[in-house]
Amino acid sequence: MKSIEAINTDVTVIGLGQMGTTLASLLLKSGYTVTIWNRTKSKGEILIKDGAKWAENIAAAIQASDTIVICLFDYAATRDILYTEDVTASLAGKTIIQLTTGSPTDAIESEAWAQQHGAYYIDGAIQVAPEQMAKPDTTIFISGQQKTFSASKTILDVFGGNIKYLGEKISAASAMDLASLSYLYGSLLGFFHAVRISEVEGFSANLLGEVIREITPGFAEFIQYEASVIQSGTFNVTQSPLSISVEATARILRSSREYKINTELAELAASFLKRAKEAGYENEELASLIKIFRA
Ligand SMILES: NC(=O)c1ccc[n+]([C@@H]2O[C@H](COP(=O)([O-])OP(=O)(O)OC[C@H]3O[C@@H](n4cnc5c(N)ncnc54)[C@H](OP(=O)(O)O)[C@@H]3O)[C@@H](O)[C@H]2O)c1
Repeated sequence: MKSIEAINTDVTVIGLGQMGTTLASLLLKSGYTVTIWNRTKSKGEILIKDGAKWAENIAAAIQASDTIVICLFDYAATRDILYTEDVTASLAGKTIIQLTTGSPTDAIESEAWAQQHGAYYIDGAIQVAPEQMAKPDTTIFISGQQKTFSASKTILDVFGGNIKYLGEKISAASAMDLASLSYLYGSLLGFFHAVRISEVEGFSANLLGEVIREITPGFAEFIQYEASVIQSGTFNVTQSPLSISVEATARILRSSREYKINTELAELAASFLKRAKEAGYENEELASLIKIFRA
């Protein structure tokens, strides 16, 4: 098996959707020799004009470079394309950087498959849209063997300035992706409820967006503080007693009923806080709500 230190400036990108095309384009701009392959060849035409080499089939794409970046719709597509004898025969000593978003189970299965065929493997989850790639704050979660991560870091740095290495447990990147998306969708549901309030009260969605952008850094600091309280396991009030949120969520629910807007989210939030009060956490830090989630 080839040494991991042997990674060079030849990179193959498999998958030329919105994100894969962006990854290939960034590598070309950074001076890498880039080989591309996609099920639909037409999506590679602009990249070929920009200097990318088209591989006639997937086996040729794997053979062309020591580092293989994969960015497909899902892991099922990865399995459809790569789990063939043609491909596995050429995998020994290659480094696979899997940037398709998947589940922790997908990552575990995928690493085992790569290792079985003698390849180095790291798994990643991109946290931004294609046009936000390659910025100083572009976040990509990565997990997998430290030596493979270290050898791939120069390539990963082309994709974003905040490469967040989460350790050798291969499922860590996809698990952190589940966590960040859980946070995002919770916030988005709150955002849509907020839009309904703005519509009834007659202030614009643009103004709401502006206000949320302005207050988000402060909210983020507050969330980080609550995380530190959970980490410490000591819930004495220092910032925000849970009782304030019992009242706030009850007020949101009451007003939503008066507005005659959808109340599902407001009911859920008020119900969580009411349960925390009934469990006796009213005079603890808001972070003690985690005990209701754990119950
Ligand atoms: N776009 C984003 O904003 C964003 C942000 C973060 C993470 N991601 C992740 O990046 C990955 C790629 O996203 P994308 O936006 O590039 O998706 P996309 O534009 O929908 O492209 C999907 C890619 O997968 C290929 N594909 C799908 N099913 C296939 C199959 N059965 N066999 C062979 N190829 C197949 C497509 O090939 P064809 O061209 O032939 O259809 C295409 O290359 C996803 O896992 C996504 O979650 C995307």
